[in-house]
Amino acid sequence: MNVGFGIFQRGDGHSGTWQDRSVPGSQCFALVNFVRPMPSSKSSVHMMADRSLHVLVTGATGKQGGTLLRQLKARGHRLRALVRDPTTPAAKALRAQGVEVVQGSFDDPSSVEQAAQLVDAAFLMGTPFAGADVERKQGISVIEGLRAAEVPFVLYSSVASASQHTGIPHFDSKFAVEHQLRTSGLPFAIVGPVSFMENVVAPFALPGLRQGTYGSWVPADKPIQMIALEDLAAFDTMLIEKASRFRGQRVEVAGDELTPVQVASVLSQRIGRPVRLQVLPLEGIRQQNPDLAKMSEWLGQHGYTVDIPALRHDYPEIGWHTLDDWAGEQDWNRLLAAA
Ligand SMILES: NC(=O)c1ccc[n+]([C@@H]2O[C@H](COP(=O)([O-])OP(=O)(O)OC[C@H]3O[C@@H](n4cnc5c(N)ncnc54)[C@H](OP(=O)(O)O)[C@@H]3O)[C@@H](O)[C@H]2O)c1
Repeated sequence: MNVGFGIFQRGDGHSGTWQDRSVPGSQCFALVNFVRPMPSSKSSVHMMADRSLHVLVTGATGKQGGTLLRQLKARGHRLRALVRDPTTPAAKALRAQGVEVVQGSFDDPSSVEQAAQLVDAAFLMGTPFAGADVERKQGISVIEGLRAAEVPFVLYSSVASASQHTGIPHFDSKFAVEHQLRTSGLPFAIVGPVSFMENVVAPFALPGLRQGTYGSWVPADKPIQMIALEDLAAFDTMLIEKASRFRGQRVEVAGDELTPVQVASVLSQRIGRPVRLQVLPLEGIRQQNPDLAKMSEWLGQHGYTVDIPALRHDYPEIGWHTLDDWAGEQDWNRLLAAA
């Protein structure tokens, strides 16, 4: 399945922890009889913005931050990226695109304060890769730095349902960061994305997909909400450009809702060959990562509850992707070529 598969993966493919392993006792569902429809041509809005803003982007070498940075750049904004190591290929690639790259870390508020000098807005995200408690501490540390720099607007990317006391460690840590931001005195907005569609092609998922298997952490018939990173970045861009309108708001975002059976069916059609669904047993997940197991359990019993029709109605300019739209835009030959 797609939900949370990417939680412990970086956009550049580093630091995967537990994917690629099959979990004993999984159920398998075979899908056959597929057709290959024409690819869809959805795209996000990339017109120039009315006013060029100077924006600090954290996580710019990763998936969320990287996608946002490209969209902000396409709309004519000036960008500064906070990276831990400016000598990495990812950081050099940002510089080659005309992005100002500054060294800093979520662990070091003074580096964030320096990086945030004189920007109009800052995009903040965090990761639970070193544990949810580290994510919470880092978020608090970054907000300290942003407050010292008196940043005019902070957009924090949390997760949908973080406010619902789910008991999932990396949801609760994000909610603690949300609370810190709310009480910081900084002007802010919070976006809460559901599962990324891109989890389907994350480094841990691709080996299975190459073998014709889509692994799910929730029951086969449980609907799961998901969002394309391009749509999340388009929404983030809108929140940053219309900061005064969204100030103090918390908006949860999703683009589609499908059961794992339906996801496998969409993938079969778009890839052009059968994709079997493999439901991974909770106990196997728990043995490898209790945080993800808790999320998996919660998704199976509850799940995200974003009002997708209302979002599509209120923000048609985002060009919301269904999973089918998204899958139709992927270069499956390249993605599924042997590594
Ligand atoms: N996958 C999903 O379905 C999903 C859904 C909702 C929410 N989320 C949340 O999204 C987050 C992951 O986002 P992502 O997928 O965009 O991450 P990602 O691709 O793994 O990128 C992580 C980024 O964080 C930066 N970073 C990590 N530690 C840092 C530190 N100490 N100081 C400064 N920068 C640091 C990395 O920069 P460097 O280049 O310096 O390493 C990198 O740019 C997680 O919190 C996850 O819970 C995920």
